[in-house]
Amino acid sequence: MALRHFLTLRDLTPFEFKQLLARATELKQLHRKSEAYQPFVGKVLGMIFEKSSTRTRISFEAGMCQFGGDAIFLSPRDTQLGRGEPIEDSARVISRMLDIIMIRTFGHDIVEKFAEYSSVPIINGLTDDHHPCQLLADMQTYFEHRGDIEGKTVAWIGDGNNMCNSYMEAAQMLGFKLRISSPEGYTPNPKFLAEFADHVELVNSPEAAAKDADLIVTDVWASMGQEEEQKLREKAFANYQVNEALMQLAHSDCLFMHCLPAHRGEEISENMLDHPNAVVWDEAENRLHAQKALVEFLLNEHSKK
Ligand code: CP
Ligand code: NVA
Repeated sequence: MALRHFLTLRDLTPFEFKQLLARATELKQLHRKSEAYQPFVGKVLGMIFEKSSTRTRISFEAGMCQFGGDAIFLSPRDTQLGRGEPIEDSARVISRMLDIIMIRTFGHDIVEKFAEYSSVPIINGLTDDHHPCQLLADMQTYFEHRGDIEGKTVAWIGDGNNMCNSYMEAAQMLGFKLRISSPEGYTPNPKFLAEFADHVELVNSPEAAAKDADLIVTDVWASMGQEEEQKLREKAFANYQVNEALMQLAHSDCLFMHCLPAHRGEEISENMLDHPNAVVWDEAENRLHAQKALVEFLLNEHSKK
């Protein structure tokens, strides 16, 4: 059996995706009851971070501890990765010592190459192109609050970035409609748009995206690595703020999500995170449970080999 990785959502089948969401909710309930569940004593997760993180690092590290295993934080600043040791060599060496590895980096080709040379499962903890772990948490949150997302309408308002790409994949896999509204020059990669055309529609205003939506999602205007474009992007995205007025156009039970960190007064209004339909804190917490379900799935699949 081939080694399973999680570089994009499409590394799961739609069936596995849904199963994983249900398992995440089960693990959450177990955790709430303070029931110990430690199937991975002695297993070690390596976490390579080339970009900053609060949620991803803490959720993976805490999740692994709760499973009875351990997690090691690896910064390129103090490993040979940062001094130019080739990815091929690093992947072969690191994967001989660890049981599973998470990587947050820039180019998506880096995680692909790491996975190619790794002997253990690789998890994409965010690249410039995808953020699949966040989608597990977002979808778990939707299912928990509203039930199945199949046939629903999701509005993506803002940058056609890594999060947006992962939403496109989720739309196809879970059968929802994704309306994207991005300023000119910041729309998603046309290759992606064409590939997901059956489930994704580019619309010409945030209002058109929000109309009758069941879920509205946004993200920062300048992602990690784009800090120098902040001022330019503030101008381009000025009309793309998600706020209370936009929520009014959606269905009355429309949820609001944001992967966080958020910039109040930019992509969201000052009080948007406190909106009665905002579920951002559940969404953030679900990173823990969803990724525990993912780690469990990948380690179990790996042990079958
Ligand atoms: N949403 C998310 O991935 O957060 P961090 O950057 O804090 O990990
Ligand atoms: N699009 C954002 C997501 C942060 C979790 C970034 O890449 O910085």
